[in-house]
Amino acid sequence: MAGSLVLLGGDPGIGKSTMLLQVSDMLSRNGGKVVYVSGEESPQQIKLRAERLGIEGHGLFLLAETDLEVALGYLEEVSPQLAVIDSVQTVYLNEAGGAPGSLTQLRECTLRLMRWAKPRQICLLLAGHVTKDGTLAGPRVLEHIVDVVLYLEGERFSSYRLLRGVKNRFGSTNEVGIFEMGGQGLQEVANPSQVFLSQHSEQSIGSVVVPTLEGTRPLLVEIQALTSPATFGPPRRTANGIDMGRLLMVSAVLSKRAGLSLGNQDIIANVVGGLDVSEPAADLALSLAIASSLSDRPVNPRLAVVGEVGLSGELRAVPQLERRLVEAARLGFQRCLVPGVSVDITDSAGLQVIKVNDLRQALRLGLGPRIKQSEKGSGGVEQTD
Ligand code: TYD
Ligand code: MG
Repeated sequence: MAGSLVLLGGDPGIGKSTMLLQVSDMLSRNGGKVVYVSGEESPQQIKLRAERLGIEGHGLFLLAETDLEVALGYLEEVSPQLAVIDSVQTVYLNEAGGAPGSLTQLRECTLRLMRWAKPRQICLLLAGHVTKDGTLAGPRVLEHIVDVVLYLEGERFSSYRLLRGVKNRFGSTNEVGIFEMGGQGLQEVANPSQVFLSQHSEQSIGSVVVPTLEGTRPLLVEIQALTSPATFGPPRRTANGIDMGRLLMVSAVLSKRAGLSLGNQDIIANVVGGLDVSEPAADLALSLAIASSLSDRPVNPRLAVVGEVGLSGELRAVPQLERRLVEAARLGFQRCLVPGVSVDITDSAGLQVIKVNDLRQALRLGLGPRIKQSEKGSGGVEQTD
């Protein structure tokens, strides 16, 4: 949007500069003029990266500068449609005082940029470093100044990145973009569910697929759990990509309401692909994964499950169920366990909807017969005790 200020936040190294450079390239390819101001990297470094990304750079101007007044003088001269400031933490205004990146500097620099860009109808993209817990308050204080706030998220060891809208004066924030970081920078992932399920094998123990929602976009993810007897001390709970509070809650409900003896078990829960799943709609999948691992019973083939688990073991409705079911059907799932209280839901597109009212019933309908130890060990490692 002409005249808008867009803040792109994210952890250091997540891919903000890469994304901004790619966006700059796309705009300049369409005949726009773009200035990329970098306070972090030298022009040589940026050029190297640009070459790797296959950027030709007609109409794309680089400026390595941290003095904001100097940068604005240059921007005034070139008068681009889009200017990138990478990052807001590295530029400074002499008159503002304080060190670059300090709260005063951040606010003054952003206000200065806004006053410059708005009347000229120039779009500004600002990169800002934020740590996960948001302690480096930086960009948070800018959220009310800028028009759009986007966060680029992902796990360190996963190549997938989620671009999430947090604030948007021009439209909905209920959207996410899913990208993969590769040798040629960030590429859009056209079929995300497929990617996150690509290694999901049928009939595996402790592994359950849930249709989650990322913004308005349904996304099938695999949740895994492993239980093992606690060897000493109190049993431990480990959550990767799942909220620890929900893991503790689900484990407690499984013990108390479904009769599983988890009191002496360590539990590790994991979301495949480095994703973060925080919505309660994944509770049932997590429960089934834990029960599956504990009882050595695989989840029924081609089965997806979705539902929020309540403290008395009841299953609660989840938002936008229809959307989730369509996605599950699209990826070849044949059955889906859904909360019994869901209204207006019938079988569709080759997917049988199975309504369940509580956890016990879900475990009964969702898990297959127990697999004996001797059948499990295809690698030949037998348990002798
Ligand atoms: P970068 O955009 O510099 O992150 P940020 O600006 O958010 O700090 O990207 C950092 C990482 O991305 C870096 O560790 C290398 C990786 N990367 C790729 O894997 N492929 C690529 O094509 C590029 C340009 C970077
Ligand atoms: Mg950077």
